[in-house]
Amino acid sequence: MTTSDALRAQLRLPLFAAPMFLVSGPDLVIAAARAGIIGSFPTPNCRTTADMEAWMARITEETAGFGSGEDHSTKLWSANLIVHRTNARLAEDVALVKKYRPPIVITALGSPRAIVDDVHDYGGLVFADVNGIAHARKAAAAGVDGLVLVCAGAGGHTGRIAPFAFVPEVRKFFDGMLIVSGAMTDGRAVAAARALGADFGYAGTRFIACAESMAPEAYRQMVVDAEIDDLVLTSALTGALASMLRPSVREAGFDPDALVEGSTAGYTHKTSENRAWKSVWSAGQGVGSINSVKTVAEIVDDFAREYEAALAAL
Ligand SMILES: Cc1cc2nc3c(=O)[nH]c(=O)nc-3n(C[C@H](O)[C@H](O)[C@H](O)COP(=O)(O)O)c2cc1C
Repeated sequence: MTTSDALRAQLRLPLFAAPMFLVSGPDLVIAAARAGIIGSFPTPNCRTTADMEAWMARITEETAGFGSGEDHSTKLWSANLIVHRTNARLAEDVALVKKYRPPIVITALGSPRAIVDDVHDYGGLVFADVNGIAHARKAAAAGVDGLVLVCAGAGGHTGRIAPFAFVPEVRKFFDGMLIVSGAMTDGRAVAAARALGADFGYAGTRFIACAESMAPEAYRQMVVDAEIDDLVLTSALTGALASMLRPSVREAGFDPDALVEGSTAGYTHKTSENRAWKSVWSAGQGVGSINSVKTVAEIVDDFAREYEAALAAL
């Protein structure tokens, strides 16, 4: 049995609830684990390391017994570490990762090299989030177990490559696990990712509009109301290409049709960046198919039904 088979055997369907800045917290992670998928949260969502310790202790305690391993002790969840040089808290976050041992660590915005051994030492797996081929090659060379391919259509800091190209290109040089991310809002898309040869799907935007997300009510409603044409792709807000909801750009006082590209603002830990994500909201291209706020359990039920039907129809 491969590691990928072993992970999937513990899940209802091969899906991650993707980490989202200011959106994913312990309620979402715990509900995801209990529903049979893998939940995750970015560690900068915890304002302090004390908060992070409390979150990880709670997640460990409240997911215990919900796994589908023989003794029901297996529980899959993931912490997302921002391995960017501007993350001044990285060393403290890594110390807590070593203490609470999330089975999976997802790295973003930099090289995973510095943390791979720490996670492997306690038996965890490392997935690196990448949005291009050069980045994927570097992460593969750093010894990760898997890559998250952030494809065109993804929410947050998005990708530019179509999944139909990204998966086979990366398969040329990497035989570890692959996760496909971008506009995955139903179970048919997870089946499509499997048909492409990837191991898992990764859905962010669908989980913004869930009962357990930390997103403000107005943000959830905007996701429910928005159609694909309500998105604007811009690097003006954070310096990196991001998929943003036009109504929120307008409400924050910017003209979505006159954004000045090429800002060089840093990432999550900078106050300016914080303000950007707090007042200007992001969604991926699957936003048009989200029509109501549901619980994580209801969303996973939908995904599982659609996934099985799509596999049966292939
Ligand atoms: C509001 C928002 C915040 C995000 N924040 C992060 C983050 O902190 N770290 C990260 O690795 N990815 C982040 N992402 C990207 C997601 O993990 C995932 O790749 C993306 O949401 C998948 O595309 P989808 O939204 O179309 O499903 C974010 C996405 C959104 C929508």
